[in-house]
Amino acid sequence: MMNTQARSETVAPARALGGLAPNIPGDKSISHRAVIFAAMAEGESRVSNIAPGEDVASSMRCVAQLGAIVERTGIDARIRGCAWHDPSAALDCGNSGTTMRFLIGALAGRGIAATLVGDESLSRRPMLRVAEPLRALGAVVDTAPGGTAPVHVRGGHPLHGGHIRMKVASAQLASSLMLAATGAHGKVRISGAGSARDHTAKMLPHFGVAVQRDGDDIVVEGPQRLHAADFRVPGDPSAAAFWLAAAAIVPGARIRVENVNLNPTRLGFVDALQRMGAGVEITVTSEEPEPMGHIEVSARPLHALAIEEPEVPAILDELPLLGIVASYASGTTTVRGARELRVKESDRIAVLVNGLRALGGTVNEVDDGFDVTGGTLLRGATVNSGGDHRLAMAFAIAALGASAPVTIDDSACVAISHPSFFSDLEALRR
Ligand code: S3P
Repeated sequence: MMNTQARSETVAPARALGGLAPNIPGDKSISHRAVIFAAMAEGESRVSNIAPGEDVASSMRCVAQLGAIVERTGIDARIRGCAWHDPSAALDCGNSGTTMRFLIGALAGRGIAATLVGDESLSRRPMLRVAEPLRALGAVVDTAPGGTAPVHVRGGHPLHGGHIRMKVASAQLASSLMLAATGAHGKVRISGAGSARDHTAKMLPHFGVAVQRDGDDIVVEGPQRLHAADFRVPGDPSAAAFWLAAAAIVPGARIRVENVNLNPTRLGFVDALQRMGAGVEITVTSEEPEPMGHIEVSARPLHALAIEEPEVPAILDELPLLGIVASYASGTTTVRGARELRVKESDRIAVLVNGLRALGGTVNEVDDGFDVTGGTLLRGATVNSGGDHRLAMAFAIAALGASAPVTIDDSACVAISHPSFFSDLEALRR
């Protein structure tokens, strides 16, 4: 396993930045789905351009423990799925909430008995949001007393249909329920996904599962078998977002990212950059099963904007980065309705606020968001990532516009989603 612990990295301010961003990793969300769906399917699937980080490696290891045959060659894999068997040891989901939540649903639907564990960060994250609705469908799922991992899925409890009204607009939860529904006896209706990313509803039909969209509801009628399918994963817009942010804040910069996923449920950050005044050009190159294409961003004077709850799902993982960009914009940017940020890989509101303060930024913390006032040049300092890959990368981008180098403590966690992040950043200097 990669060492995603500690280490620190110092990033110098950029005088000039530009070009084609190298090595955009495959989309992490879509990679998890392709790997897990292929492992559930009958037959052999070829998945290419898989996200190279530790998170998707966790999904691959877990499905192999369940009986799938995974032959990985770099960023490509052949995966032979099967009916799954009870694993002989706990499934270690590492840092990956997606792995744990998806597998809980899939295991419950298949009647498999398993224990799921994770690292320290994942062991603090809420799992009752998955366990409770699965119990309503007949599953027996136990969590630790705080509603956290370890999670025990008890085998041999067949699921029935039902109507689940989700309390949080979570794509992971909706996906977990859809996977459970493929093994249920009856119709599972899921309400409340809102504008959360819809990759599972889009990709399951590619693996032979009928998914009905009824207004805002998603309906999957089980039991349904998954069939093997080949899948090419598009580039990750959440990884590309760091380069686009860099292009927006360094005067004179222009950066292009190619072949990234352009699903509108993931483009909230690109939309925000455009509304803040950055130059943004999008070229769509294909549509199915996920829209894909190129994005180019150029620096222009930026101004503040307000993000409210309905917009949050489409920009969720990029909100800390938006906080950094807001430091380089005139006026006060406000983010509200984003309490979910507190239960991600870290408390992303607290880690952002602490880091920005250390850099001399003007930031106000509220329960469900933050305010950042731009206009003061950020200074060099040491900041802590909180062990969170997206915060480590966001602070590295902050450094590009700062008056002196910024040291990011606990930076090795970038390996969760983008192992070559720091060297790719250096390649963009001009
Ligand atoms: C994800 C959904 C989001 C996101 C996470 C990946 C997914 O989480 O933050 O990084 O792949 O479905 P929630 O579903 O918890 O909002």
